[in-house]
Amino acid sequence: MVRSVLIYGILLCSQSLAMQDILAPHPEQELLPGLLSSMELFSEYTAAATCSMNFNSPGGTKVVCEPKVCPMLENMETTVLMGFTNLNPGNTTGYLAVDNTNHLLILSFRGSRTAGNRKADGQYQQRDIPWICQGCQVHSGFYNSWTNNSEYIVAAVNMYADAYRDYPIVFIGHSLGGAIATLGAVLEDWGRDITLFTYGCPELGNYDFANYITNTFGTQGTKGFGVRVTHTNDPIPKVLSNDKNISKDWQYSTTSPEFWITSKNHVPVTEDDIKVIYGIDNKSGNLGTNTSDPFAHNWYFGDMAGCRGN
Ligand SMILES: *[C@@H]1O[C@H](CO)[C@@H](O)[C@H](O)[C@H]1NC(C)=O
Ligand SMILES: *[C@@H]1O[C@H](CO)[C@@H](O)[C@H](O)[C@H]1NC(C)=O
Ligand SMILES: *[C@@H]1O[C@H](CO)[C@@H](O)[C@H](O)[C@H]1NC(C)=O
Ligand SMILES: *[C@@H]1O[C@H](CO)[C@@H](O)[C@H](O)[C@H]1NC(C)=O
Ligand SMILES: *[C@@H]1O[C@H](CO)[C@@H](O)[C@H](O)[C@H]1NC(C)=O
Repeated sequence: MVRSVLIYGILLCSQSLAMQDILAPHPEQELLPGLLSSMELFSEYTAAATCSMNFNSPGGTKVVCEPKVCPMLENMETTVLMGFTNLNPGNTTGYLAVDNTNHLLILSFRGSRTAGNRKADGQYQQRDIPWICQGCQVHSGFYNSWTNNSEYIVAAVNMYADAYRDYPIVFIGHSLGGAIATLGAVLEDWGRDITLFTYGCPELGNYDFANYITNTFGTQGTKGFGVRVTHTNDPIPKVLSNDKNISKDWQYSTTSPEFWITSKNHVPVTEDDIKVIYGIDNKSGNLGTNTSDPFAHNWYFGDMAGCRGN
């Protein structure tokens, strides 16, 4: 399958430039050119999923936020195609948008805001999904938050993907939103390339499932290209394997690669601040931190707390 690389929304066809060619020869683990810009752009689209103007949009509106939440996007030509709010179970919320400046389709999921979201977060019991991969087990709350609402979202994504044939499709989300975006990419048979960017995404299931996600949506993924961004000692990407009450009954693993931001909260992120870490359950990044700062969960390039006045 033809791989592609997003460089600030510019699609470079992989015959000349493949992820593995760029990442593999750099033992010092440099970022590929443009990846930092893509992470910044998509972090704004992620924060915009917290804003009612987008998730309550009937379609046809520009992607807008409260001041300082998505400043770059305000200068771009964007249209929300469909907002969705409190799809149940799980209160799944977000929006689908088209970006005519960078030529992208964006499916963005909001993180936890409501009691329904938190109920889904707490359903950490795992369920088997042998039709996806043998031995794989997934977090039930995240699974239901995607699967019980997927029919509606899949139909819309496919319709607009047909309408915007040349536009890469990018699934994104912060926290719970990252979990739903990942499952949306991984559990469906899209028959198209999906690009995945998550920020502060929790662990999603057991080792076998993490391995499957890594194989299908890693830097050399067979189904798409995936970027899992973490920040310093953000508690959320490691909580399911660190919490003793959970880990005594359920084994949770992180996926690879991890793009670990090492700079402090509220400071701009440079390329040197991002470490690329390969290997499932590698403790050289966020997973190995022995402290937790809840505020690190809300600082990914910008303030992921996003809109407050909903
Ligand atoms: C989600 O939101 C709705 C309100 O639209 C609520 O009635 C529902 O019970 C919530 N919780 C869950 C778990 O779906
Ligand atoms: C989610 O959907 C499955 C069937 O796909 C159903 O068995 C289950 O009851 C649903 N869960 C909820 C909480 O509605
Ligand atoms: C673990 O469970 C026990 C008993 O239900 C509870 O008292 C304790 O607070 C829990 N610990 C954590 C870290 O959630
Ligand atoms: C974990 O990451 C570190 C730092 O990038 C690397 O040196 C090490 O080889 C990785 N371990 C595994 C098992 O991949
Ligand atoms: C926590 O991690 C830091 C940095 O890796 C290390 O220097 C320190 O000794 C660790 N503390 C504990 C209590 O493990």
